[in-house]
Amino acid sequence: MKKILSIALFLFFAITVSVFAQSQVQLTVNAKTPGSVINKNIYGHFAEHLGHCIYGGFYVGDTSKIPNTNGVRNDIITALKKLKIPNLRWPGGCFADTYHWKDGIGPKDKRPSMVNVWWGGITEDNSFGTHDFLDMCELLGAEPYISGNVGSGTVQELVQWGQYVSFDGKSPMSDLRKKNGREKPWRVKYWGMGNEAWGCGGNMTAEYYANLYRQYATFMTNWDNTNHVFRVASGANSSDYHWTEVMMRDIPHNMLEAVALHYYSVIDWSKKSSAANFTTQEYFTTMKRALRMEELVSKHTAIMDKYDPGKKIALVVDEWGGWYDVEPGTNPGFLFQQNTMRDAMIAGVTLNIFNNHCDRVRMANIAQTINVLQAVILTDKEKMILTPTYHVMEMYNVHQDATLLPITITGSNYIMGKDTLPAISVSASKDKDGVMHISLVNIDDSKNQTISADINGIAFTQISGRMLASPRIQDHNTFDAPEKVKPVSFTGFKKDGSHLSVTLPPASVVVLTLN
Ligand code: AHR
Repeated sequence: MKKILSIALFLFFAITVSVFAQSQVQLTVNAKTPGSVINKNIYGHFAEHLGHCIYGGFYVGDTSKIPNTNGVRNDIITALKKLKIPNLRWPGGCFADTYHWKDGIGPKDKRPSMVNVWWGGITEDNSFGTHDFLDMCELLGAEPYISGNVGSGTVQELVQWGQYVSFDGKSPMSDLRKKNGREKPWRVKYWGMGNEAWGCGGNMTAEYYANLYRQYATFMTNWDNTNHVFRVASGANSSDYHWTEVMMRDIPHNMLEAVALHYYSVIDWSKKSSAANFTTQEYFTTMKRALRMEELVSKHTAIMDKYDPGKKIALVVDEWGGWYDVEPGTNPGFLFQQNTMRDAMIAGVTLNIFNNHCDRVRMANIAQTINVLQAVILTDKEKMILTPTYHVMEMYNVHQDATLLPITITGSNYIMGKDTLPAISVSASKDKDGVMHISLVNIDDSKNQTISADINGIAFTQISGRMLASPRIQDHNTFDAPEKVKPVSFTGFKKDGSHLSVTLPPASVVVLTLN
């Protein structure tokens, strides 16, 4: 009996120890060998003429009762300035390849209207145009990133747009700009040469588009002598590696500053499922899709490395985010969806992936800023709420222009049925004042994760933390409960010399500050 008892006890301890060992997450942050600078443009945004992103979102017009500056909502300006949005992509998306910029300048009552064929077939009155966008970027302190019309425009039209906004001298287009009330140029550096040329941007082959790109890029010169034009080639649809191969192979590198990539975390394009009422299985699948960004960025980077080992050309992920069914009763062409803790997880892991690949990924744009897809802000007339995604981007903005600190991580598993995902996602950086930030995400919706971390090569005495978490992954903010999900202070860490033990609650995003 005694022997049986001791065997049982031994087995109990062996199993406990092995389970503990499996769930023990080991993290090393290596400050001795810092990486590249995390370009602040990774935290960029995207605003398309789609649904209520521009109209009702950013822009209400200067006759609106909603407090505004030249028609742009003041509450939005305040919220986005706090987010420190570094750049804003506009006017699309698919809309960009139907947009003719001259329709959006001059007196508003004289502007022609058009039909927004991609998004709901509604009439676009062009009341928000080039001046409105570029003045708004100045208010936000964000760099403009204009998506040019390659699909249905002309080289001349795009070149004239560049001259209109950036040329500081006498020319037909700068004269027209001055006549329309803007004396000094705005100086636009970032130009997208079309959007999704493989799809809504013209259904082109990679080879055809590469030739067209060369033609456009030749004439899309530096209109402004101080700011070298940054031309972004329309990029691959998720895992279309052939597309990236052709861009890198067929476009002379002195004509190419960046290649784009678009990827959305979608469960199934034919059955995207509800944004706020989803099952745990659907949550797990979304996490699997979001984590796929690591593979996509690594594989597109490997192709780029083959042609450009010096990493001169950037990978620009200028559309990313979660995509679900629209909210019941809303226009299917407006892509309006709620934003939950699931989206906070997508944002946290995706931004960690971009940070960790910052030697190649130097710009990215979440789709989209307001009222569309994985929005950071939702509006309903004069009301406005910040989403869980907003809070993650605000917590993470400490990484902007900081130096990446390489990490290694082992031992975290989030298991569902036969499928396993890494439960923990991490990135770390050191800012210009020497302050270190570590952003951690536990995507496991039911288990705490305890992380044993060694911080090598940097001394620290003080630690503080902020956390975004909520009891349910479906939790979100509403116009009636706008602060249900918001960051709180985090104290779940223990320091022992250069060693740190951190316990992350289920489905949480934490940013630690060490100095
Ligand atoms: O972000 C919504 C749409 O998704 C964009 O217009 C398009 O580029 C992409 O397919």
